[in-house]
Amino acid sequence: MIVCSCNFITLGEIEEVVAGFLDQDEWQLITPGKVYHAMKKRGKCCGCFPNVIDIIIRVASDYHRAKQTPETDIIFLTEKIRKAHEDTQRMRSLARQSKSRQAA
Ligand code: FES
Repeated sequence: MIVCSCNFITLGEIEEVVAGFLDQDEWQLITPGKVYHAMKKRGKCCGCFPNVIDIIIRVASDYHRAKQTPETDIIFLTEKIRKAHEDTQRMRSLARQSKSRQAA
């Protein structure tokens, strides 16, 4: 299943990269940008990023549940991932607004 139509990235490819990051450091903050960078790709329209966040959270949660990580720690990690994405989206939105104001 294609998740990113700009880069033709599949669900399986994203899951594989996220699992690799978790194997390196199970508590690291994984973002769509980090996943795409590892694939030598970059977000173009970034419309897929909300889905990529959901995939990252699902893979990280499954990974930690398999290791019997306490649920409170899993929730903390997934909230941290979601907040980082929201912060990035907010900064992108502000940058777009600033750019369009400069062009006007
Ligand atoms: S759909 Fe992924 S960058 Fe456009």
